[in-house]
Amino acid sequence: MKRLVVVSNRVADLSKAQAGGLAVGLADSLSQRGGVWMGWDGQTLKSVDQTEPTIRKFGDVTRVTIPLTQDDYDNFYLGFSNSVLWPLFHYRLDLVEHQSAFLEGYRRVNAKFATALLTVLKPDDLIWIHDYHLIPLAAELRQRGCKQRIGFFLHIPFPPPEVLAAVPRHRWLVESLLEYDVIGFQTHTDLGNLAHYVEEQLGLTMGEEGRIAINGRAVTAGCFPIGIDVDAFAEMASHSNQEVDIETARRKVLERSQIIGVDRLDYSKGLPERLSGFARLLELYPQMRKSVDLMQIATPTREEVDAYVEIRKDLEALSGAINGRFADFNWTPVRYIHGTVPREALAALFRAAQVGMVTPLRDGMNLVAKEYIAAQSMDDPGVLVLSKFAGAAEDLHEALIVNPYDTDDVARNLCRALTMPLEERQERQEALLVRIRKHDAAHWLKSFLAVLEDQGLLPPNDARSTDPAKSSRR
Ligand code: G6P
Repeated sequence: MKRLVVVSNRVADLSKAQAGGLAVGLADSLSQRGGVWMGWDGQTLKSVDQTEPTIRKFGDVTRVTIPLTQDDYDNFYLGFSNSVLWPLFHYRLDLVEHQSAFLEGYRRVNAKFATALLTVLKPDDLIWIHDYHLIPLAAELRQRGCKQRIGFFLHIPFPPPEVLAAVPRHRWLVESLLEYDVIGFQTHTDLGNLAHYVEEQLGLTMGEEGRIAINGRAVTAGCFPIGIDVDAFAEMASHSNQEVDIETARRKVLERSQIIGVDRLDYSKGLPERLSGFARLLELYPQMRKSVDLMQIATPTREEVDAYVEIRKDLEALSGAINGRFADFNWTPVRYIHGTVPREALAALFRAAQVGMVTPLRDGMNLVAKEYIAAQSMDDPGVLVLSKFAGAAEDLHEALIVNPYDTDDVARNLCRALTMPLEERQERQEALLVRIRKHDAAHWLKSFLAVLEDQGLLPPNDARSTDPAKSSRR
């Protein structure tokens, strides 16, 4: 088996990767095969441009990290990655802020990653690069003579050509993407969007099995929906958590249900729309007042980007306004937590909540949706209310699928979830469990690596359309 080299902007702390998390799956796979995980060390240096990587060993896994300079951080991370590509790939053209230094920083840091990676690469390695920060890395590696097979997985959505065309140098970006041997997407929609782009902008065709012939090479693009370690997360959720148990007992006495939402505080997650949908529930169904509350946990992220400062302000104002309007001395409808909750407590909170609300405006997959399902008990399962714009909605048909922009639709489905009979909840839960088990973390890893090693073809029954170019656009 070939040694696996994983590259991503962030590298998991291999000494404390969390149960059920994606990092555990990757770390397990790395330790089975022996491998390297390379990325940014999370540090920013004021001026010195250190390219020498820091190398640490964790059993058979080598962690290779490099710092970024302040300039790299501003232009590569905050700039091109998170002020251009992130909003654009989430269809938010209105939030794009571009400066030419951003693109220069993006190219420079990708070149820096390539130089550092070359110092640890072996001729037989299998290289797997992750996410939008590192799209041009294969091209940089090839320019330095790297001959190994290189795969790429995009964790976020891939937009349609008309949106992608707003990226400065979008053609260069997609041509860089086509330097990989295998390109993985979360959904068929994303895969179809690449097919449309290569056809419309590059005059190429994506054939069956996702093959694109370019410059005498074959690139394979496919759909590899990411998943979780279902048993590990279910196990974690089954442990009793004293603080959550006390809260649950209190709600039981009060006959009060709980809706839970857990997200990074990102504008793509549709948090203001979610609160508005909840407020609409209280408006349209007055009987729900005092009988339900929404706990929204929002973890701070990328706080130096203006759009994130704005979303925080909006959310705080909205939760205050809803509480001001509806709260009573013994009931607060929205509990908004701006912070991080330990994973074990989250699993217990998911299990105790009657509704999991996952309503992004656009999302690559959304693993919270899968974690909520994994955490439920079959005796009395909760109901997942899921946005049609989350990648997970392509598969999780038994969730209540909503349009997050339509507050009436959200309110109606929340009411339906909160009043759903036990038997229907159990039927839906059973079907959803089968789905998250089929597309779990191990399946994601195995199927991507099989194609990257050129030993596996894309599973035919995973393909919604054999010709992605003909798939319907969403
Ligand atoms: C998303 C991206 C990841 C990223 C994570 C956290 O899930 O797909 O690549 O690491 O957000 O964002 P951050 O900017 O803190 O790395």
